[in-house]
Amino acid sequence: KRLVVLVSGSGTNLQALIDAIGSAGPEAYGAEIVAVGADRTGIAGLDRAARAGLPTFVCQVRDHDSRAQWDKALAEATAAYEPDLVVSAGFMRIVGKEFLARFGGRTVNTHPALLPSFPGAHGVRDALAYGAKVTGCTVHFVDDGVDTGPVIAQGAVEIRDEDDEDALHERIKEVERELLVKVVSRLARDGFSIEGRKVVIP
Ligand code: GRF
Repeated sequence: KRLVVLVSGSGTNLQALIDAIGSAGPEAYGAEIVAVGADRTGIAGLDRAARAGLPTFVCQVRDHDSRAQWDKALAEATAAYEPDLVVSAGFMRIVGKEFLARFGGRTVNTHPALLPSFPGAHGVRDALAYGAKVTGCTVHFVDDGVDTGPVIAQGAVEIRDEDDEDALHERIKEVERELLVKVVSRLARDGFSIEGRKVVIP
């Protein structure tokens, strides 16, 4: 299967996918990364892609007249690589109608909280501020809401008294990377269907 991975930041989730595919081989893993897309330049995620020899594309909101045009450009840039699955791995933008029309139902996102708790851009900070004792990460399909799509898998992480946002996020990301790598491989190898909110993997 063909994967396009979208990133906005350090790209450690992308790296985990690159490493897993590299060590298992694309056939055993079930998928290969055919391109990495970003919504900004100068991020470690793009460097990681380049180091792995992967094609990259950048689609910046500010280079477009409207959000809708940006969304269309992102959809077109993604479509050029003919992906079977899109992985939003720390991609900090909400995709729009055009993107969802083409890739809805096959775009996977990873979020650093146990949804439906703490959606949005500050899932780690919000869980800490709330005083939650357990948080974690959620791998889910993207729909037209903010972190509201059908859940594929979750991993739990305990919050420690001494945690700050960075320390907690790092522990979440360890679980998150492993979960994402597993989920993407299963989806790619075994196929899936989405029945309402339920994701069925045979
Ligand atoms: C992940 O925790 C992701 O869920 C969040 O941002 C982080 C991205 O990390 N929204 P990286 O860029 O993959 O290192």
